[in-house]
Amino acid sequence: MDKKFKRTLVTSALPYANGPVHIGHLAGVYIPADIYVRYLRMRGEDVLFICGSDEHGVPITIKARQQGVSPQDIVDRYHKIIKDSFTGLGINFDIYSRTSSKVHEKNASDFFRKLYDEGKFVTKESEQYYDPEAKTFLADRYIVGTCPKCGAEGAYGDQCEKCGSTLSPEELINPKSKLSGAEPIKKKTSHWYLPLNEYESWLSEWILEGHKEWRSNVYGQCKSWIDGGLQPRAVSRDLDWGVPVPVEGAEGKVLYVWFDAPIGYISNTRELLPQSWEQWWKSEDTKLVHFIGKDNIVFHCIVFPSMLKAYGDGYILPDNVPSNEFLNLEGDKISTSRNWAVWAHEYLEQFPGKEDVIRYVLTANAPETKDNDFSWKDFQARNNSELVAVFGNFVNRAVVLTHKYFGGKVPARGTLQDIDRETLAQIPQIRASLEKNLDGYHFREALKDAMNIARVGNKYISDAEPWKVAKTDMERTATILNVCLQICADLAIAFEPFTPFAAEKLRKMLDVTLFAGYDHRKGEQETVNTYRDGEAAALHTLPFGGTAVCEGACEGGVRLEWNLLGEESILPEAHQLGAAELLFAKIEDDAIQAQLDRLDAIRAEREAAAKEEAAKQVEPQKAEISFEEFEKMDIRTATVLEAVKVPKTDKLLQLTIDTGIDRRTIVSGIAEYYTAEEMVGKQICILANLAPRKIRGIESKGMILMARQGDGKMRFITPQEILANGACIG
Ligand code: MF3
Ligand code: ZN
Repeated sequence: MDKKFKRTLVTSALPYANGPVHIGHLAGVYIPADIYVRYLRMRGEDVLFICGSDEHGVPITIKARQQGVSPQDIVDRYHKIIKDSFTGLGINFDIYSRTSSKVHEKNASDFFRKLYDEGKFVTKESEQYYDPEAKTFLADRYIVGTCPKCGAEGAYGDQCEKCGSTLSPEELINPKSKLSGAEPIKKKTSHWYLPLNEYESWLSEWILEGHKEWRSNVYGQCKSWIDGGLQPRAVSRDLDWGVPVPVEGAEGKVLYVWFDAPIGYISNTRELLPQSWEQWWKSEDTKLVHFIGKDNIVFHCIVFPSMLKAYGDGYILPDNVPSNEFLNLEGDKISTSRNWAVWAHEYLEQFPGKEDVIRYVLTANAPETKDNDFSWKDFQARNNSELVAVFGNFVNRAVVLTHKYFGGKVPARGTLQDIDRETLAQIPQIRASLEKNLDGYHFREALKDAMNIARVGNKYISDAEPWKVAKTDMERTATILNVCLQICADLAIAFEPFTPFAAEKLRKMLDVTLFAGYDHRKGEQETVNTYRDGEAAALHTLPFGGTAVCEGACEGGVRLEWNLLGEESILPEAHQLGAAELLFAKIEDDAIQAQLDRLDAIRAEREAAAKEEAAKQVEPQKAEISFEEFEKMDIRTATVLEAVKVPKTDKLLQLTIDTGIDRRTIVSGIAEYYTAEEMVGKQICILANLAPRKIRGIESKGMILMARQGDGKMRFITPQEILANGACIG
């Protein structure tokens, strides 16, 4: 880490507690953040990892209304599901709290009040949309309409999900209340605004001049916001769910969710460390890093920093804001409302023991620089041909052979040959690249580096063939396996950030512990964690300022730490290994097929619903005509006598009909809807005096009247009772 910092505060976006988390959230925010934190902890850096549920905002109240329960019921349910999913996936926050906590309510309220008292807000009265039926103001997502940017239906008052544009309710075309469907009226209300315009030049200097190293998607969004000119932003809303605005006469108003939620990072830190939280937020020695998704960029780079700047009092600003693009699922945009997602809690149920696989695949495919796709086939392939065939296979061969030939004791290393030296020499090089990528938030590339260590090991053991050498030369076999086991130890270090469950299994096989840095989960005490078999084997309380000393379970044993990565003798000669275990298991086709079938069913359901919706769409009325114009049309009954398909066409039938006046031929495009056999004998209605046309060389005289539904489905018109042919209609 850069010399100027003493500690790192990592936050990851507080997920809305209005639904479970899915692979898009995991790939975009939580897995990269967890990788980064685990890496720093292993390096012995002091790091604090903060998250929690975002429990205010309109999506939650809408969901509650839909389900006929209270917003509190919704957030209670999803807070638990989300929290358990993170734990299940090994995403280890120091605290996962909630913005409905008492600490947060007070903290957010005090934050607002200080800015209010110091005149940092402007108050504005404006006309805002109001639902006359539901008798409430329609903030943000309570209002839907047509997107002014892309024309999509169903855009929200704050954002269009189709094109991603940020919107304000006034911009929507044909706005409708989400509550009652009513057309909203305008009503006067007053709100507090943070005058972002006053922070524009400061932001420009801080980000556009000072943080050119930020990812180009983040920097680019900041630049376009700042260049476009910043406007004052409302920080309150007319709603009954949220932190009440702590000002006299503000009844019925709450803090805007994007005002209170980022303050939640601070609140959750205070909840965990009531005495020492300020050193994390107000010390220039602290490096603050926000992990977020791309739809959060403006709030974390422009709005929250402006809030902190307005507050003053030594609050630090983020050093970096790594933000990912979006992940798609099987080629389609992930969507909670359309149920197009792989949900973390369902994955954990359906793939027990495979927590690392999803972590691995989502990192290997992380949408770091552009939107990316998750597919189940790729998931299977990466598991079977990378985790199982390379990483797992190498470790298994090394450990099993050591048990077979040397009773599970690390054999002595004899004279090194070129192949040994060259192999060992690669690890420090890979380590350098791995560190550069992790420090630079390039987790995809970092994972490739870690995997390269396994590839190096796998190639080495395949080339050196200890199972063959063992037939003639035990000393050489010992050297080869010693080298292999050192690489296994390297893997146990390098993979701890990415696949912590496999790393833990591997530590057990190697019978080693891990130095996993300071642990703040217990609160105020300064502690150090050493892991053995996944448990904190020794949790040492240290006097403030003391250094980490390990005793008890980790005394005397081998303790891995980041700095050992690439060292030539991590495991000493004669060190006794644990039992061999498979690190990863193959994923069979049927497990993948079950997932694809589930998605197919959702897709089919969605298409059926869309068709049903389309069927209801009616065309607008055509321009008016006079009675005389109508009278010109000769519409009458007729009966189909013969019908044949027009050769080499899909849609056309050639019909011979009895019109009561004559027998004639009509060529009609109804073969999509009726077979020739079905048409024979049917009474239909025709426009008889339509000018004849040649269709595929056949003269067609007249037209069959058909009714056409919104989804394109067509049916011919027949009188309610059979009439004589030639009966005039009109
Ligand atoms: N709940 C928001 C989302 O899911 C993220 C909030 S991040 C915070 O998009 F900074 F506001 F906490
Ligand atoms: Zn749009």
